Amino acid sequence: MVTEDLPEPGPGEIRVETLAAGVSSYDVMLRGHWFPGQKPPYVPGEDIVGLVDELGDGVVGLEVGQRVALWTFGDAGGYAEYVSTPADRAVPVPDDLDSVEAVALVVNYLTASLAMNQMAGVRRGERMLAHGAAGGVGSALVQLGTLAGLEVYGTASAYNHDLVASLGAVPIDYRNDDFVAEIRELTGDGVDVAFDVIGGGRQLWRSSRALRRGGRLIMLGMASAVKGGIKMIPGSMSVVGLVKILPNGKTAPMGPGMESYPAEHMAWYRDSLAEFFDLTVTGKLEPAIAERFPLLEAARAHEFIERGGYAGKAVLTVG
Ligand SMILES: NC(=O)c1ccc[n+]([C@@H]2O[C@H](COP(=O)([O-])OP(=O)(O)OC[C@H]3O[C@@H](n4cnc5c(N)ncnc54)[C@H](OP(=O)(O)O)[C@@H]3O)[C@@H](O)[C@H]2O)c1
Repeated sequence: MVTEDLPEPGPGEIRVETLAAGVSSYDVMLRGHWFPGQKPPYVPGEDIVGLVDELGDGVVGLEVGQRVALWTFGDAGGYAEYVSTPADRAVPVPDDLDSVEAVALVVNYLTASLAMNQMAGVRRGERMLAHGAAGGVGSALVQLGTLAGLEVYGTASAYNHDLVASLGAVPIDYRNDDFVAEIRELTGDGVDVAFDVIGGGRQLWRSSRALRRGGRLIMLGMASAVKGGIKMIPGSMSVVGLVKILPNGKTAPMGPGMESYPAEHMAWYRDSLAEFFDLTVTGKLEPAIAERFPLLEAARAHEFIERGGYAGKAVLTVG
């Protein structure tokens, strides 16, 4: 643990006393120092729920003691007892929503919603495939896809199939079965959209083969890089480029990453998060929680992610 002076909120900022901080495979990849992003030394952590502890000059609409959730917009900094942040990132958390559940909704559900609505433009009745369907982003895709009236298929290890089915998807065992063949068998001509958080050239090419004509391949992440490292990137980018140019009616729309998108679209960010909170309070969404770790055991949380074999979001808790 590192001890620093309490961060003072500047004008337009608030200081938040952390209650829960999200941990993700993205944090693990950044910690490996080969993935583009933060350079050490830095504090990891992309999503937080906490209590407003102090208001900087000019902040209106928030009160000391109020519980808020926020995404750090690529600045990291979440694995800390106190965080100073621009006030407009803080979205009030309803009283009857658990802080751990609330933090699990931030990056993963915003990413899933961005991918479904802005990148893929999904429509009710379409078929979608979500890889890593028991993981943080994948489980969010499955739940939001089901809620939006899509027919959802999800790849996961067999030990996660009950969870994936309970979230609304038809589970496919990517370890023992050929998911392209399974999708063909289950759907006839393929899915309209494939969301791929796994990455790697071979994986993305196979995802494109699971698409029907007119289908969209959405590359969203590179979970395979947790073990495969930086070498997964060039093959992934080549396949996305190839799918874009091949004259087979399939596309691979790219979108702005979460790092840049919401900064220009704060209303979307705030409204979406508030909607996810309401949907969870009313039981329509149920974020999967993999494990809770005390903040001081963040290293153990990273080992847990590196080992794999979990479902949902790992969360650090404070106090
Ligand atoms: N674009 C963005 O803005 C954005 C935002 C958030 C995250 N991401 C990225 O998205 C990726 C996933 O993040 P996450 O937090 O969802 O990770 P995660 O919670 O670790 O989930 C990934 C899951 O993928 C499954 N998996 C592993 N290999 C697979 C394969 N070959 N086929 C199908 N499933 C496989 C594993 O589940 P099983 O145990 O069932 O095998 C694992 O739980 C990361 O690369 C992350 O950086 C991107």
